[in-house]
Amino acid sequence: MDEEVDITRNAEARVPGKKSEGAGMSDRVIIFDTTLRDGEQAAGTSLTPKEKLAIAMQLDKLGVDVIEAGFPISSPGDFEAVQLVANELRRPTVCGLAHCRPAAIDRAWEALQGAAHPRIHIFLSASDVQLAHMLKKSRLEALELAREMTARAKSYTDDVEFSPMDATRADVGFLYQLLEAVIDAGATTVNIADTVGYSTVNEFGDLIKGIMENVPNIGKACVSVHCHDDLGMAVANSLEAVRLGARQIECTVNGIGERAGNAALEEVVMALKTRHDIFNLDTNVDTTQISKSSRVVSELTGFLVQANKAIVGGNAFRHQSGIHQDGMVKESTTYEIMDPRSVGISASSLVLGKLSGKHAFRERLAELGFALSEEALTHSFRAFKELADQKREISDRDLESLVSEELRSETQVYKLDHVDVACGDHSLHSAAVRLIGPKGEILSDAALGTGPVDAIYKVINRIVGIPNTLVEFTVNAITEGMDSIGEVLIRIETEDHRIYTGRGSSTDIVVASARAYMNALNRLIISQQTRQDLDAAAASSGKPGMKEAD
Ligand code: KIV
Ligand code: ZN
Repeated sequence: MDEEVDITRNAEARVPGKKSEGAGMSDRVIIFDTTLRDGEQAAGTSLTPKEKLAIAMQLDKLGVDVIEAGFPISSPGDFEAVQLVANELRRPTVCGLAHCRPAAIDRAWEALQGAAHPRIHIFLSASDVQLAHMLKKSRLEALELAREMTARAKSYTDDVEFSPMDATRADVGFLYQLLEAVIDAGATTVNIADTVGYSTVNEFGDLIKGIMENVPNIGKACVSVHCHDDLGMAVANSLEAVRLGARQIECTVNGIGERAGNAALEEVVMALKTRHDIFNLDTNVDTTQISKSSRVVSELTGFLVQANKAIVGGNAFRHQSGIHQDGMVKESTTYEIMDPRSVGISASSLVLGKLSGKHAFRERLAELGFALSEEALTHSFRAFKELADQKREISDRDLESLVSEELRSETQVYKLDHVDVACGDHSLHSAAVRLIGPKGEILSDAALGTGPVDAIYKVINRIVGIPNTLVEFTVNAITEGMDSIGEVLIRIETEDHRIYTGRGSSTDIVVASARAYMNALNRLIISQQTRQDLDAAAASSGKPGMKEAD
């Protein structure tokens, strides 16, 4: 008979305020967040190690149990990000990904040295199609490799996760054997990956049930699931899996990730909470941090959240039809299955306007979760007063946009000091721009363009001199009304095919466009500098540099 193991033991032992288990008590699902790893694999995003740390700090506030911070062997930037997160965060488990190669596992462990609770996560293809075409290995060879590499990871840390990649298209008998072998070799979590988002709900449920019944030592490990959303079933599949005994869900904030993305954290967590009657399962997530987490991830990755997105979309708690509005006025539960405050959308009665003082401004920002330095607060307050001269009431979304703009401007190499355009349907479009350079020097120029934004970008390019192509340009109004703040999101691509996002906001969308471009360029410059620094450090230590590792 196999030794009985508490499948949630690793995370629970150190999570403050955990619920005690007992007859009739509900169980707990470990929330494994992979926004910084699988989420960052989404096409069109690149986060610097510092931006990853900012997201990780918010994930810590959100209360996720495990943060997968990156894939250390993949690049020095990923290595640095995992190291930064591991060194900074003390409560959550910090995880580094590695493929089944000794060097990858060693590198993951190196990055995790400073972690209070390190986890090495290794993966290997399990389906015949991937074994034949990608690994060029037989099932038996893969089994041996998985066993060996799990043992290697185990020699570093007790907390080892193994993922059979493309498990849902693997031969099920082979999958059972593989899981048994890695658990024998020391894996404490086995993660069933629907890598290509192929499985349907019943099928995935049957797979989990089959694993529970046919892998003899399964009680020694926590069963985890990692579902992609190619057919829109990632959340449903994950929930079906926990209903059948899985106790870890891998997910990302806003559901970002490779291709169609991963299971959305906010949907998984709120489904478990709202339908506790069905699942009888809890998580450690502080759901009031969901809305803020969504905004932080969207801001830094540059992926906008669609209005009708469950839980975090702009329309998720809005009621449009007369009948619905009437019901809501009489009793909110007529049309609302969740209280918006439970996901951090405040129903604040405090509306700021031009007569509001710095104290009220500071208080409201604190309620929204912003802790600004005195200097940033003073700058933001000045911007708030300017905005209040143009808008009668300042909403929370306005405040967030304003503060985000302030925070973006804190990390600038080139600063936009002045922008002036001339445009109209019969005139030439021209722009004059003044920037403050890295050494405080004043740089100004002017240019003509096909439109005002084109003219601005031409001038900035002439001054900064970094070749790039604008590949995406979107304008959004933050709130309703003609006086709304406009937010511009852009993506630029460098000659070596790296994509950088930029955001800018202002009541003037031409200014917002200039700010967005400066934001993208500054991120590009900082990222290039980081890469050069890491390459220089790698060259002096004999480790692979950014160029070779890419
Ligand atoms: O989708 C996948 O299979 C993965 C693994 C690395 C777990 O992301
Ligand atoms: Zn994945």
